[in-house]
Amino acid sequence: MGDSSDAAKAAAARFAVARLTPGRVALGTGSTAAWAVRAIAERFPKGRDFEFVCSSRATEDLARSLELPVRGLREDDQFTVMVDGADEVSEALDLTKGGGGALFREKLLAVLSEELIIMIDPSKLVTRLGEKASIPVEVVPFARGVLTERFRKQGYQVHLRTLREGVPYVTDNGNEILDLRPSRPLEDPRATAAELRAPIGVVETGLFPGMAHRVVIGHSDGRVEERIASAGVRRR
Ligand code: A5P
Repeated sequence: MGDSSDAAKAAAARFAVARLTPGRVALGTGSTAAWAVRAIAERFPKGRDFEFVCSSRATEDLARSLELPVRGLREDDQFTVMVDGADEVSEALDLTKGGGGALFREKLLAVLSEELIIMIDPSKLVTRLGEKASIPVEVVPFARGVLTERFRKQGYQVHLRTLREGVPYVTDNGNEILDLRPSRPLEDPRATAAELRAPIGVVETGLFPGMAHRVVIGHSDGRVEERIASAGVRRR
C-alpha cells in the first residue's frame, strides 16, 4: 500500500523542479511528470532560458499549453537533467516504467541526460521489481503474436495493452505494448531486461535498471524524502 495522492505526487514534483537550472531539460510522461511540468511553468514562467524535449505527445501538449519552449530531439542533444515518474522503484533504485506507454522515448531521453531524477509517491516503492507492476514491452505489431507466445513460454502472463475491448493501445512510435506479469519478483532486473529485449520485434522494455540518479518520494502532507544512487550509476 502507500499514499498515491495528487498531493504526494505534487510534493515530489515541486521538490525536483526546485533543483532545475536553465538549460536543456528532458521531460517524462505520466501524472507525476505532469505535476512537474506545471511546477516548471509556475516557477519559471514561459520557461525562459530553458529548452524542453518531451517523451510523449501528451507531455508536449501540456508543456505547450503552459507556454513552455518545447522542441524536437536534435542529433547532438544532451540534457542536464530529466525529470520523470515511475511505476515501481526497488530498494536498489531500479525502475519499472511505461505505465503511460512512453517507455521507449523515456529511455532514450534518460540515456541522453546527465542526471535522471525520478519523482514518485510512496505507493511506487517495492523491495524488488515485479512485486506490483507488470513489465511493459513495446513491440512491433507484426511480431506481437510470436512474441506473446515466446513470453508465455518463458513463464509470464502476457496482456496486450488495449484502449478498449479489442482495440490495441498504440504508442507514439506506432507500436503496441505487451504487459508482462512475472511469476515472482525479479532477482536480476538487468538480466531480465536483456533477455526480454533480445528477440527481434521488441523495441524496448520498461525495465530501467541502474539508470536513476536520484529518487524523490513525496508524501501527501508535503514531506519529501530523497534517495540517491550510489556512485557509478550504470547507464545503458
Ligand atoms: C510513462 O510511460 C511512465 O513511465 C510513467 O512515468 C509512469 O507510468 C508513472 O506514471 P504516474 O506518474 O502517472 O504514476
